[in-house]
Amino acid sequence: KEIQGQVASFPITTPAELEQFRIAYVGRKGVIGDLFDALKTVPQDERKALGAELNTLKNFAQTRFNEFQALLENQHTNGSAQAPLDLTLPTIPNELGSRHPLSIVRNRIIEIFERIGFNVSEGPEIEDDWHNFTALNFPENHPARDMQDTFFIEKNPDIALRTHTSSVQVRLMETQKPPIRSLMPGRVFRNEAISARAHCIFHQVEGLYVNTDVSFADLKQTLYHFAKEMFAKDIKIRFRPSFFPFTEPSAEIDISCLICKGKGCNICKYTGWVEIGGSGMVDPNVLENCGIDSQKYTGFAFGMGIERITMLAYQIKDLRLFTENDIRFLRQFSQLS
Ligand code: PHE
Repeated sequence: KEIQGQVASFPITTPAELEQFRIAYVGRKGVIGDLFDALKTVPQDERKALGAELNTLKNFAQTRFNEFQALLENQHTNGSAQAPLDLTLPTIPNELGSRHPLSIVRNRIIEIFERIGFNVSEGPEIEDDWHNFTALNFPENHPARDMQDTFFIEKNPDIALRTHTSSVQVRLMETQKPPIRSLMPGRVFRNEAISARAHCIFHQVEGLYVNTDVSFADLKQTLYHFAKEMFAKDIKIRFRPSFFPFTEPSAEIDISCLICKGKGCNICKYTGWVEIGGSGMVDPNVLENCGIDSQKYTGFAFGMGIERITMLAYQIKDLRLFTENDIRFLRQFSQLS
């Protein structure tokens, strides 16, 4: 009776007290265990009744132990046994990623050209010599091939990482009949040292329009439209004579500097102009190489670096930021899509 009283009133509020209780009353070596041992000394005729009482006591202690053990565990996981679920507590923040600035700009460029009837084409990043060079009018062993330092995968026959997305133009013209009006975004590779202004992996968007009566005026007006939509309504555009094996005539595309509006600053090296890409009328040889009648059709093509456009649009000074995955840099674009 006395021990039953002790078991009932033993204070259990902490895990340490629960352990003390276990050792004192539940364990084999506790008070109740001792009483069971003492049962041997009790005369035979009283032993059965006493044994039954001891069992009741033992179960009572075990039940109390189980109850408090469950209670303490519950407190541990819920903070407090009494505290009701608080629905006003703030949740654990669930962070969303953001689109990469290069993807934002690529999508924007695609949007602008889609609205004037261009579709989007893609091709393989590993190319053969024909699609990357020969069909584009790069003669074999011609120094023009050195303009684009190439990562070769195999020699004879040559397999390489594409140096420009012009290879996709070839694939399109080989498989489709004019009119062709397509935009070709993608990753390109050149064996160049990595710096703030150059990388060995970068992105281009090229465009191709082949139809009857396509003229240089169409090329100029298309790119002027693009520059206005992409950068600013009051932008100016200029074409500088240049050379590419696959276009004739060829021109470099410049836009007026967005920072100084043509007055001169260090972004445009005090010229008032910044280059955004190359362009030209598709060389008749290229059309013929791809099975398109150059007497009947003409075309224009252009190519721009997505990194370059992004740097101009957001005034980013170091191209390496695009591939470093620094979350402080990337997070700044989370409000854009
Ligand atoms: N393919 C050229 C380059 O990567 C760019 C270009 C494309 C020039 C189309 C003219 C016409 O440098």
